[in-house]
Amino acid sequence: MEPVIEVVEVWKSFDTVQVLRGVSFALVRGETLVVMGGSGSGKTVLLRLVAGLIRPDAGQIRAFDRRIEHLSEEQLLPIRRRMGYVFQGAALFDSLSVRENVAYPLRENSSLPEREIEARVVTNLGLVGLGPEVLGLLPAALSGGMRKRVGIARALSAEPEVLLFDEPTAGLDPTNSKLVAGLISELHGGGVCDTAIVVTHDLELAKTVADRVAVLIDGRFDAVGPVAEVLGSDNLAVQAFLAGEAR
Ligand SMILES: Nc1ncnc2c1ncn2[C@@H]1O[C@H](COP(=O)(O)OP(=O)(O)OP(=O)(O)O)[C@@H](O)[C@H]1O
Ligand SMILES: [Mg+2]
Repeated sequence: MEPVIEVVEVWKSFDTVQVLRGVSFALVRGETLVVMGGSGSGKTVLLRLVAGLIRPDAGQIRAFDRRIEHLSEEQLLPIRRRMGYVFQGAALFDSLSVRENVAYPLRENSSLPEREIEARVVTNLGLVGLGPEVLGLLPAALSGGMRKRVGIARALSAEPEVLLFDEPTAGLDPTNSKLVAGLISELHGGGVCDTAIVVTHDLELAKTVADRVAVLIDGRFDAVGPVAEVLGSDNLAVQAFLAGEAR
């Protein structure tokens, strides 16, 4: 199977902090890869690299069969359009209504008529379980769980081929976490967008959505494999991480 995203021996530092030290993985179409790792281990940095928002110091990043690490901003745009990014903490535009937040990628990337944009916004909100009554609301009027769902609807707007989720359940109560986990599973199974990288601390989420799990420790993937295999790994660093998360 051809990988949709392929990361080969990627290194990334900020000033004196070496964050990624030779990360490699491949994501194939139809697969959900969950990336776990402690706070500050470089999970968000990894997602930003995959989306072409930052560049690696060394190594290769391939998206849709194209090397992206040396592309210009302009060359990156059509590639980013094929990815939906659900940012850590939802990152909605506070001064824009739900309608405008979800429509944003469509307005940026397409010249669809207004009627079509409105229809797609309503459809995408429906996919995340939100009705048209939220269209006119500002993000401040939403609960944390609703905000996350609007962030997912926005990422779905431009009909991406790959979804990148950064901590989709962080800060949510167990009920809303379950809801978001169920939603990610549904997207996976339902033909909307079945290929994803999900970055999370949340073991329950990992168990619900992962085809494979990777654990980022000291800038590298220490274990990559099916959930049960990684959870049962005899790698001491992985065990220590999982024991910390389970507390
Ligand atoms: N733009 C930047 N400039 C300087 N340092 C950065 C930058 N982005 C990330 N870092 C550093 O890289 C390291 C990894 O950050 P990252 O945000 O990827 O962690 P994370 O695994 O996502 O953590 P969390 O689980 O808390 O979200 C941290 O030490 C962070 O300070
Ligand atoms: Mg992060």
